[in-house]
Amino acid sequence: MLLKAFSTIVSLLPAALLLQMAPAAAVPIMGPVTIYTPPSDYTNERTLYARAIQLEHQKSDEAESDNYSMPYLQDNGLILSTWENYSPANEGLTYFPIYSSSNNGKKWNNYSSVHDQVNGVGLKYQPDLYELPRDIGSFKQGTILLAGNSIPRDLSTTQIDLYASTDKGKTWKFISHIANGGVALPNNGETPVWEPRLMEYNGKLICYYSDQRDPKYGQKMVHQITSDLYNWGPVVDDVTSPVYDHRPGMPIVAHLPNGQYIMTYEFYGAPETAFAVYYKLSDDPTTFGSKQGQVIRSQDGTVPVGSPFVVWTPAGPDDNGTLVVSASSNSEVFLNSKLGAADAWVKVATDSPPAYTRAELVLKDSKRVALIAGGQLGKGPTNSVTWTTIDIPRK
Ligand SMILES: *[C@@H]1O[C@H](CO)[C@@H](O)[C@H](O)[C@H]1NC(C)=O
Ligand SMILES: *[C@@H]1O[C@H](CO)[C@@H](O)[C@H](O)[C@H]1NC(C)=O
Ligand SMILES: *[C@@H]1O[C@H](CO)[C@@H](O)[C@H](O)[C@H]1NC(C)=O
Repeated sequence: MLLKAFSTIVSLLPAALLLQMAPAAAVPIMGPVTIYTPPSDYTNERTLYARAIQLEHQKSDEAESDNYSMPYLQDNGLILSTWENYSPANEGLTYFPIYSSSNNGKKWNNYSSVHDQVNGVGLKYQPDLYELPRDIGSFKQGTILLAGNSIPRDLSTTQIDLYASTDKGKTWKFISHIANGGVALPNNGETPVWEPRLMEYNGKLICYYSDQRDPKYGQKMVHQITSDLYNWGPVVDDVTSPVYDHRPGMPIVAHLPNGQYIMTYEFYGAPETAFAVYYKLSDDPTTFGSKQGQVIRSQDGTVPVGSPFVVWTPAGPDDNGTLVVSASSNSEVFLNSKLGAADAWVKVATDSPPAYTRAELVLKDSKRVALIAGGQLGKGPTNSVTWTTIDIPRK
């Protein structure tokens, strides 16, 4: 409601004033725009688990990156999206498609794809895209990374691998194995690894993921760190529960303007409800393990459930900006303009469909947030990949 009311007010303001308060107002609230509709010969889920990044660290056109009046952004501004793509067996091994948009999500093109180059089984689940904000090892700022789960069609193994592109996502090269595990089934006692999420910190790269290999826990959440993208350090716990059956999972981390980091996750075992969305705050994104988790409960009493995502945007009522949390239970998002304070979560409507692990992206030129939805579990025939932007109320 809040968002829709705000956009109505904006549309009534004179154009000159609009430009002064927010150059981004030139980009209309939009969507859902369809990125990809899977054909009917796709298997079970057809599409799921969409992700997107907008390039901002390319050197080629730095000067243009802040030019809000350019309708078609090149390089910096280019948006890349990927998802779990359930292509039919007769088309060979599964892979991650890369679609692109050079006009802030209005139109999408089949741009490239990432194929398994080393395991001979395909790239099946949980892709994550990331653009290096600075050099790491021999990899330059602006390198595009993709971490994803290499799993055969019979689900017999899991392998989180890292791929890199030095040409804005056009071509890809295998870089390293991050973690490997057993059968790709989310049952206690199995030993898969799941859901990688990349983030640079202090000149190193962190990979957060969910881990069922430790016999003490049905599932826990962990991270590993590399300083060269090839060699990965030890597995460090981020979220565990003393009860074996509990399953914290699906880590996403965002950086707050007070220097803190927030990690959101779903928590099977939460007293509120199964898979309630929880979060931890930490001054250091490598020490979530010692921090206490807490539930997200919006001021109207809603507890979001399942496959959360979090971003921080500078848009908001003051310099605290706004945290934006999505969960699969809701089309709405949960905003917090008080740096994650427990009593400050507000549920607001969006035009985006809910989705299993719906991704969020803060648009660089506009301070708007895009919601990228790949469909819901068990809804294969109606799943597609969509893009919807929302406007965050701001100062
Ligand atoms: C922004 O881009 C437009 C369109 O290419 C160009 O005409 C204009 O000079 C640019 N402005 C700046 C400040 O670079
Ligand atoms: C993108 O285009 C390539 C080459 O034509 C094709 O093989 C691939 O299936 C397309 N991707 C998707 C997701 O349809
Ligand atoms: C930012 O949030 C903190 C925590 O709620 C609050 O104490 C502070 O006043 C806020 N800052 C501004 C500028 O409103």
